[in-house]
Amino acid sequence: MTQKISVIGLGKLGASMAAALASRGFEVIGVDVNQRSIELVNQGKAPVQETNLDETISANKERIKATTSHEEAVLNSDISFVIVPTPSDERGAFSLQYAAWAFKEIGRALSKKNSYHNVVLTSTVLPGSTREALIPILEKESGKKAGRDFGVCYSPEFIALGSIIQNFLNPDFTLIGELDERAGSQLEEIYSRVMVNGAPSARMSLENAELTKISVNTFVTTKITFANMLAEICEKLPNGNVDVVTNALGMDSRIGRKYLTGALGYGGPCFPRDNVALTFIAKELGVDAKLAETTDSMNRAVAAKVVERLRPMIRENATVAVLGLSYKPFSHVTEESQALFIAQALSRAGARVVGFDPLAGEMALNELHGQIVVLDSIEECLKQAEAVLITTPDPAFKELTVESFKNERSEILVVDFWRILQDKLDEQSKIKYIAFGYGDDDQENTKRLKELWGGTAKETFQTSGK
Ligand SMILES: NC(=O)c1ccc[n+]([C@@H]2O[C@H](COP(=O)([O-])OP(=O)(O)OC[C@H]3O[C@@H](n4cnc5c(N)ncnc54)[C@H](O)[C@@H]3O)[C@@H](O)[C@H]2O)c1
Repeated sequence: MTQKISVIGLGKLGASMAAALASRGFEVIGVDVNQRSIELVNQGKAPVQETNLDETISANKERIKATTSHEEAVLNSDISFVIVPTPSDERGAFSLQYAAWAFKEIGRALSKKNSYHNVVLTSTVLPGSTREALIPILEKESGKKAGRDFGVCYSPEFIALGSIIQNFLNPDFTLIGELDERAGSQLEEIYSRVMVNGAPSARMSLENAELTKISVNTFVTTKITFANMLAEICEKLPNGNVDVVTNALGMDSRIGRKYLTGALGYGGPCFPRDNVALTFIAKELGVDAKLAETTDSMNRAVAAKVVERLRPMIRENATVAVLGLSYKPFSHVTEESQALFIAQALSRAGARVVGFDPLAGEMALNELHGQIVVLDSIEECLKQAEAVLITTPDPAFKELTVESFKNERSEILVVDFWRILQDKLDEQSKIKYIAFGYGDDDQENTKRLKELWGGTAKETFQTSGK
């Protein structure tokens, strides 16, 4: 039975997986090209910031060691998970540059190994990458045959930043793309001992697994974008209420409630790039993946639409506060954050933008230097702002009260994209509160609906002679 596992790449996902595997009793040897990460792991500390990572590494210190030598790791383990970066390239595909380098090192180590070894790629790659690009590197460097002398799998994880360890140990399913049966069975056996919730496995070819991985993300982002589209429609619809609609939609078991809250678009390091990558590979295969393309373009249009909508409501040079700068609550990550896109667009439109986030202030400042003033507290922001945008449903913002918004100004505009303060701020004096996705008394559209449908009633009464 496999007891020794190597993890190549000790970044956000790799270090978390190494810690989680050790917490389930495996001997783990981690590899990274970054000397500092190795030192930290060997001291029992987290090399990157992630929920519970420091505690888990420290609690399982005797079962985790780290090295910069791929050879040492491969020779002292039965299976290697490779979790190196696969950044998007200029075509929108995932670059294999880091993976190729890691596979070269692993291949060299395999040439010195007599016993069976399984190489599992966990990094996100596009269909065809494992078989056509990476296996040939392993075979060339090792002088051995994949599927006969060593095993190869593609097995990505479905995890979210901020809950990587929890998600890794409790997945809905484990995805196993396998070159050969033996490799897939070994991996499935390991997962059966690692996953605390007894999740089922889906085993398939390498290419199907590569496609499944990006399909999960592109499907979820399509669902988010669909809910956001409904929110826009509801805002214009007399009596419209996006939450009422999506709550009901979610009751349909074919649809489900998750990721169906109409609000701002999606962001972060993973979601945005997957639609672009799927569009790319589909085109290469001669397929027009319009749905993925449209999801991506709708998501990229969110910030401009928000600013367009606000323009008539705020005076030029107004100070606008953006509460929430990360791409989601409890995160310091600002990559592809809708809040930052909005802050940037507002600044370009002439507003003075101040912002606050419980964790992401420093990152936001680094990214938007000169376009935003990051303040130390919500209170500081509210003191200066004529308009406030609540861009993430962070619990800190849910605590705000009517009093928090009141000061000597005549009126403050509050746009609440997640509708977290609806109960408190709606219909308060000196606060113009807009709950995104709720239609107010839109006279123009009431008239439009009358024009559109009112004739039917008239005609019916005429033909029935009433
Ligand atoms: N972070 C996530 O939430 C997440 C979720 C799903 C999938 N993924 C995928 O996992 C992969 C890794 O993501 P991440 O967020 O952990 O990246 P990361 O940048 O945080 O970590 C990658 C690590 O790999 C190391 N590295 C680079 N080349 C190496 C080599 N040849 N040998 C050993 N180490 C090497 C780097 O020094 C770094 O520590 C990517 O393909 C990503 O798309 C990440």
